[in-house]
Amino acid sequence: MDIYRIRGNKRLSGEVEISGAKNAALPIIVACLLAKGETILKNVPDLMDIRTIFKVIEFLGAQTDYNPEKNILKVKVGRIKNAEVPYELVKTMRASVYVMGPLLAITGEADVSLPGGCSIGERPVDIHLSGFEAMGAKITLEHGYIKAAAKELKGTTFFMKKVSVGATANLMMAAVLAKGTTVLENCAMEPDVVDLGNFLTAMGAKISGLGTDRIEIEGVKKLKPVTYSIIPDRIEAGTYLLAGAITKGKVKVKNIVPGHISALLDSLSEMGYKLKTGKNWVSLEPSRKLSGTVIKTLPFPGFPTDLQAPMMSLLSVTSGISVIIETIFENRFTHVPELRRMGADIQIEGNTVIIRGKKSLSSAPVMMSDLRAGAALIIAALAAKGTTEIRRIYHSDRGYEKLSQKLLKLGADIKRVKGGKP
Ligand code: EPZ
Repeated sequence: MDIYRIRGNKRLSGEVEISGAKNAALPIIVACLLAKGETILKNVPDLMDIRTIFKVIEFLGAQTDYNPEKNILKVKVGRIKNAEVPYELVKTMRASVYVMGPLLAITGEADVSLPGGCSIGERPVDIHLSGFEAMGAKITLEHGYIKAAAKELKGTTFFMKKVSVGATANLMMAAVLAKGTTVLENCAMEPDVVDLGNFLTAMGAKISGLGTDRIEIEGVKKLKPVTYSIIPDRIEAGTYLLAGAITKGKVKVKNIVPGHISALLDSLSEMGYKLKTGKNWVSLEPSRKLSGTVIKTLPFPGFPTDLQAPMMSLLSVTSGISVIIETIFENRFTHVPELRRMGADIQIEGNTVIIRGKKSLSSAPVMMSDLRAGAALIIAALAAKGTTEIRRIYHSDRGYEKLSQKLLKLGADIKRVKGGKP
């Protein structure tokens, strides 16, 4: 297993190009199944999770041709030859459950392994399933598999009891080919959901209300393949800004949509960082006086849960007391014991953490437990005194394209070491 070896306490400076958004690309790649012919996707990041979703749609009968240098993916869809997604694929990546919507819409059946719990929480899929039921599908659970069947999906009005990115995306993909009009209420407004909606619209779907909590979809008979470019990854952009902030460096993130990270930018500027924003870039530099803050994770446009862990690393070395309240996932503090090993003073009280800012952190051997917890450790290591070894870095391969190359370009001292101790 590879490890990262990071010699910290070095200011980052320079510019970094942000890749395409993993969480927009995943449902969009699946949504290619909805149209026969060849769809071309641009700005598709080269990530482990993206490679996994290729396997999923290939298993169902699609052909993929990916150019990782150019980030271009061609998906050829003919007859869907399978309505099943086996345990092996779903256990590698929960987002595999995204195929349910398109499969039900095209073949009238879907047989997908029920995702188990995950390191950040239980993450049930009950809202996805009640939505399919409301559209006329019959759902049963057999031997760990969700079996869904519907002769015809019918438009309906469905209120989601909790704001869910995954359920909103899955139900949208089912509704575009359903009979009649579907109204989804209490929808997720995340840019990733909007990007999926824009992609479906380009394919010929009739959707209104994207980016609001009420999405209306008028079913159409057929969709057509298109060429489409995925939006930039706001979480990756935020991660590099936080890496710049913790090292008191000057970092510019390019090829982004600043409006997608407004909540982070507001928090950073409240803490005292100087930010400049252009049409598709943001730059950050420290000021003399920096102070801690209070963060509450919320669905978009609130502070993203995916930036909670990296933000915690920054607050660990920001003077004063900071508070983070995590409202989206029930177990998203697995980075805390690792940050404590590096000297952070963090106390957990239920879904809240209280952070007493230290002058500095110090290196320690640490371990990633999920993608964003991993980002938190990398950020902490960049600022820590000494050399930090980070294990289980396959987690960060799931969601950060060319991570060490991008950090090296910003001046970090980071090495990916092959076959480090597991
Ligand atoms: C998406 O997960 C992202 N994943 C996550 O990013 C992100 O953290 C999350 O949205 C929140 O922004 C992808 O897009 C592939 P949800 P998703 O459904 O769709 C509960 C990363 O690091 N819920 O919006 O699974 C759920 O348990 C990943 O890139 C139900 O109760 O999240 C959670 O508490 C991690 N029943 C809340 O809703 C359901 O049927 C929000 O989850 C569905 C969700």
